[in-house]
Amino acid sequence: MKILETCNVSYSYKTDGEETIGVKNVSLSVERGEFLVLLGHNGCGKSTLAKLTNGLLMPDEGTITVSGIPTSDEDRIYEVRSKVGMVFQNPDNQMVASVIEDDVAFGPENLGVERSEIVKRVEWALRSVDMEKYRKGTPFKLSGGQKQRVAIAAVLAMKPEILILDESTAMLDPAGREEVLSVVKRLNKEEGMTVILITHYMDEAADADRVVVMSEGKIVASGAPIEIFSDRELISRCRLQAPVCCGVMHKLNALGFRVNPVLTDEEAAEEICRLK
Ligand SMILES: Nc1ncnc2c1ncn2[C@@H]1O[C@H](COP(=O)(O)OP(=O)(O)OP(=O)(O)O)[C@@H](O)[C@H]1O
Ligand SMILES: [Mg+2]
Repeated sequence: MKILETCNVSYSYKTDGEETIGVKNVSLSVERGEFLVLLGHNGCGKSTLAKLTNGLLMPDEGTITVSGIPTSDEDRIYEVRSKVGMVFQNPDNQMVASVIEDDVAFGPENLGVERSEIVKRVEWALRSVDMEKYRKGTPFKLSGGQKQRVAIAAVLAMKPEILILDESTAMLDPAGREEVLSVVKRLNKEEGMTVILITHYMDEAADADRVVVMSEGKIVASGAPIEIFSDRELISRCRLQAPVCCGVMHKLNALGFRVNPVLTDEEAAEEICRLK
């Protein structure tokens, strides 16, 4: 069974008699343990799709199931929400307590989890994001990357089956972004956590199992990172920012040098060395 399935899902925002398309006819299946990156320019529907998957929004048309449970099943909506953990852009808006371990305990407390189990979960979640030594400290003194790691721990403590990061690295400096990404990749590899990473930084997609590209509320491409990264037409049509190394390889090819498409600077360096 797929962990997440959206079937012909459409959603429009209705405000003051006006309708804005959020997503249109989106069908997407996600495998358990998959690391999926959702790419797309501003306003293409990424956050709308994320909110639909955990039942924060209900589709106008189509169906969404999480581990086989339809998000339309009102009796099981809390179950759906607890299976899909979301981390947002601004870590400051996600902190609820002035002591880190209390912040991480807040979610499972609300779910009515037993005290001894909460203690175990908090320990595991903070260890998973490599923040256990800060547990007694205050989140307000942390760096952006550290805060975002605590925000991830707070979601993990609710034991979600899918972790959705909605532009969770957008406010961070390169070091903070790297910290958060490496934690997420480790959770996926070592804990088998299903991850949906929403971003418009294409370089964050290099290690994904699959990249899905959205434009104007629709899914316009889905494939391995190398397929997406080497599709110049798609990248320009969808207004994506390709990593510099991809552009360099493209220009070398245009100049008659036979180089293969790459995902990272390291691969680009190898291709260039091979030319000699
Ligand atoms: N609360 C809302 N009310 C009305 N329209 C909305 C609302 N939220 C989003 N929209 C509109 O829905 C469309 C999809 O927005 P969405 O936030 O899903 O895009 P996104 O891909 O997450 O963009 P970004 O990269 O800027 O986060 C946009 O046209 C947006 O203006
Ligand atoms: Mg968004």
